[in-house]
Amino acid sequence: MKNKVLGVYTSGGDAPGMNASLRAVVRMALHYGWKVIGIEQAYKGMVEKQFKPLGLSDVAQIIQRGGTVLQSSRYPDFLNKTVREKAYNNLKEQNISSLVCIGGDGSFKGLSALHKEFNINVVGIPATIDNNIYGTDLSLGVDTASNVVLTAIDDIRNTADSHGRVFLVEVMGNNCGFLALHTALSGGAEDVFLPKDNLKSKLPKVVANIQKRKARGKKGHILVVAESPKKEGYSHQVAKQLRALAPSLDVKVFILGHMQRGGAPTCLDRSLGSRFGIRAVELLEKMYTTKNIEQWAVVLKEGKISELILDEVINQKKALEEDILSDYIHILAG
Ligand code: F6P
Repeated sequence: MKNKVLGVYTSGGDAPGMNASLRAVVRMALHYGWKVIGIEQAYKGMVEKQFKPLGLSDVAQIIQRGGTVLQSSRYPDFLNKTVREKAYNNLKEQNISSLVCIGGDGSFKGLSALHKEFNINVVGIPATIDNNIYGTDLSLGVDTASNVVLTAIDDIRNTADSHGRVFLVEVMGNNCGFLALHTALSGGAEDVFLPKDNLKSKLPKVVANIQKRKARGKKGHILVVAESPKKEGYSHQVAKQLRALAPSLDVKVFILGHMQRGGAPTCLDRSLGSRFGIRAVELLEKMYTTKNIEQWAVVLKEGKISELILDEVINQKKALEEDILSDYIHILAG
């Protein structure tokens, strides 16, 4: 590898902490003598030549900002090899020899394809509020999004209690359910609907529990619903079935939507983003020195930053943490 030129981009759904990570990548890379090129709008920008050299002043005052200053995109065209070839030729024109992708599992697949097809060094930094990336305990954005959801649950509980209502609070998370479970537990929600749940068999139990709690004087109920990416407004379907089963319940739906991805990153997302960024550049520096061509993803495992081979990360599915689920079930039973 001849060129000490690094391309960096933020890809897929934006996640708080992406900017903190970008800042760390740029600062570390400049420290090691790399030239850094930001690729705006991720794979789309790679194909449309949206390249921008990044210096220290370009990443000043961004650690505290949500979203991504490099912008992001969803770009299914990148599944097409001819499109990837075009992207690679554009990278070559910029002398880019190494890539850092700050994004989710779909973005990592594009990164891995570039590594395999064109022999370039790559590192992925996990960033998605879904927390569905295998091998890392946390991805960037999860903590901030969880806190946005918690604030909403706390606020909506006032109305739930005042009116004796049942609120279905729908949260994002794709097919994973982590955000729903995590916030149901920490928000003290009365129940959670996870992607794996069978609505037909679950609803009668939910109704029985609500009636039991009402009998002992509980006024409002919060039920967290994990979104169903293929069924927009899934919680309206849940509400319809709940009302049919228990017409006396006053059921309301509250869909949080994209505000979950917004807001200033929490302390945890800023520090994790910074640490992921530092490790990513250390890995690239090592590959440059050893002249190895490799593919990595940085991860958080048991409180420590480490790395896994990118393919290992993208080829395995992260299971929903059964221990969190069983803790939540225990609390509900109490
Ligand atoms: O992957 C992050 C995420 O926010 C998911 O939770 C959600 O299903 C999806 O992105 C929404 O995507 P978009 O912003 O493209 O509508």
